[in-house]
Amino acid sequence: MTAADCVVRNARIATATDLFTADIAIRDGRISALGTDLPRGEEEIDATGMLVLPGGIDSHCHFDQQRESGAGFTDDFETATTAAAFGGNTCVMGFVPQFKGHGIKDLVADYHERGRKALIDYSVHMYIADPSPAVVDDELPGLMRAGHRSLKIFMAYASSMISDYQILKVLTVAKENGGLVVVHAENNDMIRWMTERLEKEGKTSTACHALAKPAIVEREAVSRMIALAELADQPIQIFHVSSAEVVEVIRDAQARGVKVYAETCPQYLAFTAADLDGADGARYLCSPALRSASDQDALWQAIRANVIGVVSSDHAPFRIDDSSGKGGGTHGLPFSKIPNGMPGIETRLPYLFSEGVGKGRISLQQFVAVTATNPAKLFGLYPRKGSIAVGMDADLTIWNPSLTRRVAYANLHDRSGYSPFEGMTLTGWPIRTIVRGRTITAGDMREGAPGWGKFLPREAFSAF
Ligand code: URP
Ligand code: ZN
Ligand code: ZN
Repeated sequence: MTAADCVVRNARIATATDLFTADIAIRDGRISALGTDLPRGEEEIDATGMLVLPGGIDSHCHFDQQRESGAGFTDDFETATTAAAFGGNTCVMGFVPQFKGHGIKDLVADYHERGRKALIDYSVHMYIADPSPAVVDDELPGLMRAGHRSLKIFMAYASSMISDYQILKVLTVAKENGGLVVVHAENNDMIRWMTERLEKEGKTSTACHALAKPAIVEREAVSRMIALAELADQPIQIFHVSSAEVVEVIRDAQARGVKVYAETCPQYLAFTAADLDGADGARYLCSPALRSASDQDALWQAIRANVIGVVSSDHAPFRIDDSSGKGGGTHGLPFSKIPNGMPGIETRLPYLFSEGVGKGRISLQQFVAVTATNPAKLFGLYPRKGSIAVGMDADLTIWNPSLTRRVAYANLHDRSGYSPFEGMTLTGWPIRTIVRGRTITAGDMREGAPGWGKFLPREAFSAF
């Protein structure tokens, strides 16, 4: 028998359920054997003293995504997937937005053209801003069968949000085509009313963003969304859960057997509304808004209890020096005019490992589950992706659990020009990222090239 293409030696392998030591043989991009004293491979990688993890799957990232107005997301496929790989990820999921009055099919095709620059594998959520019969009946079924199995909807933002009736239409087409519906759940009218009140009082600083979007805004929308999903009998995932009260709503629904899944993001674990105050407040402006220390505790608890099953980055890069982007904050732009979101595609795994596993808040297995295995299962990539076993894609992250580094934007690879995590000291960093057997990043070196990343068509949703 010919030698394996590569053998990763003495790997301390962590999956969502196990921790064991073995060599990993890779052939034709897949794991061909796990065992001890495996025959030499064409390439040998020594992982002694390191953890080897399933490559991170970041199921919520914005890049190469068109926006109707205002500053755009600054990363394209190449910069986003480069940053993702340096952050230990082997797969990202981006978004194709539909614009009201238009279809989505051509935009999906255009996104795949742009995807030719990907260094790591990618998949796609389609976001539906106008579920007209032409889109729902003629475009979506074929696109979903072609592997674009998730539909994103907004309950806030006038240009993107849809009505409850339209949400039911989207839930229906998802149900008919094996899709999952992912939701930005905030009540638009409550935000509008709060923002108008604050603006009348001259309260327009970035700190007021959190006042305009208290947790009840999120709780109302999540509660309503769950009711709609129950009525339509369609699974949903609530994006970027930020607060204790929303965790409670989701926990209750899950206990009733409703198929509602939840995601949070490092920013909701790391920062509070206090970070919105001051000259740098725009850097921390995202939606839902940042909350309090007790909300952070509730989110960690919900991850431990598997109420929240996914931690994604919601990477939303806007240039810090663009006055219509995050730079607007330093030019006195009212909070309501500053684009929402923050970068984090490269810091997601190091932050969660350091603050979660390192500080005993979650186990190593829980870390693997919420960053790789659960997103793979939820989004129809498992068992091809999301764990380490014979036959699976050789998507591996070699992880130095005791490497301590301070986060500095100068060492990161996205294009936003800043990191909200700047200056944080984190222990546990990826040192090599391997996608389908090929090393994409090793240390500070990018070894992969645009074009290696492939579109991953996804299977129909099946509950897990
Ligand atoms: O504020 C956020 N989260 N911005 C990114 C886009 C979105 O709503 O997920
Ligand atoms: Zn959102
Ligand atoms: Zn997002």
